Amino acid sequence: MTRRTAPDLFEPGLFEGTGFYDVFAWYRANDPVSWQHPAGEAEGFWSVTRYHDVVSVHRDSTRMSSAKGMRLGSTGRAVDAVANRMLIVADPPDHTRMKRVLIQPFSNDVLSRAEDYVERVVADVVATAVTQPGPDLIRQLERIPTDVICAIMGLPRDDWEWIGRKTTEAFESPSEVRRITANGEIFKYFSDMVRENRRTGANEFISGLTAQNADGTGLTDEELVFNFSGILAGGNETTRFTLAALTLQLVEHPDQWDRILRGDVEPGVATEEALRWSVPGMHVLRTATEALTVGDVEVEPGQRVVTWIGSANRDTEVFDDPDTFDVGRAGNRHLSFGAGRHMCLGSRLARLEIAAYLRTLRGMVRAMTLEGEPRYNGSNFTWGLNELPVVLHA
Ligand code: HEM
Repeated sequence: MTRRTAPDLFEPGLFEGTGFYDVFAWYRANDPVSWQHPAGEAEGFWSVTRYHDVVSVHRDSTRMSSAKGMRLGSTGRAVDAVANRMLIVADPPDHTRMKRVLIQPFSNDVLSRAEDYVERVVADVVATAVTQPGPDLIRQLERIPTDVICAIMGLPRDDWEWIGRKTTEAFESPSEVRRITANGEIFKYFSDMVRENRRTGANEFISGLTAQNADGTGLTDEELVFNFSGILAGGNETTRFTLAALTLQLVEHPDQWDRILRGDVEPGVATEEALRWSVPGMHVLRTATEALTVGDVEVEPGQRVVTWIGSANRDTEVFDDPDTFDVGRAGNRHLSFGAGRHMCLGSRLARLEIAAYLRTLRGMVRAMTLEGEPRYNGSNFTWGLNELPVVLHA
């Protein structure tokens, strides 16, 4: 039955399941660029659901600003505190200057040296999960992105567990006070580390980035601190959500798991489907700096525009049978890492981790069983599973 009235994209609890995909489908078909003004947002915004419109917004960084915030629900004060000093909420020229420096440790060349390490971390985590299964596989999988990013950043081994816990708290705690406190602790941790490193030069990752300051075009200490925190946040939760979603899909679709086990599908190809399916970055927000058209809507200067990556990834204009999880999907042009100048800094690293996870599962695991109810976190921003009672069997 076709619905006549627009469904509510902001109905409480919608993102605690996967019912929002039907809501997106309705908007793509009936009102692809719709005006929304949910409770809790001071102003309304244009909500963009079709793949090609989403791409056009992401690619238009001249008229689409990130410096006024890149997500719903963030307060003006919090954004102003980091605007143009943290990549994800920066516009050119600051964005260009900072990204040129920050991208270096995450380039293909540098990361290819980390491949063995990533494989070892993943092997250790999966082996532990197989021999000592816990009540929630996520609490074991979360070590993969945390250990890898902490090692790349050269953080002391003893701090990794604390860092992982604080990052989760800073982004996922239901208490705003705890989120703010955890963020403050992370900033303080990196401030001390950057200051100390100016003296000792002991941390290669930090020294590599501060060395760029010599010509006056690099990052200030404050920018380094903000961006380390952004890298940590970007590197931890998102990848964990994709690993968890991939696992659940393989449990629920034994035919797809068989294709992996038989080696019929390259891990790199299956990785792309895991990313398309999981959408850990569900929406992004931009603010128009000039009048422009999105789809057939005229956007006025100063108006906000939200793109729904989860909707774009299910657009039938681009993907055949998009509601089917197909580990061998060819030509998978998902937008899970965004597009344009803000395209994810850690996409290569995330792909390495996910592909290593698939290879390791194939090598160590024969079956997986679901032992309870998986649960989603309910967020329409960093969306994903936060409970996954799955057991891996050797
Ligand atoms: C499955 C894993 C990941 C997903 C789905 C993901 C998703 C995204 C998306 C959608 C954006 C674009 C935001 C925008 O346009 O405003 C982004 C940017 C970013 N991501 Fe990721 N990310 C992932 C992993 C990582 C990792 C491992 C890192 C750590 C290095 C990272 C660090 C960043 C940073 C620093 C940015 C800002 C880039 C910029 O503004 O130029 N992400 N990510």
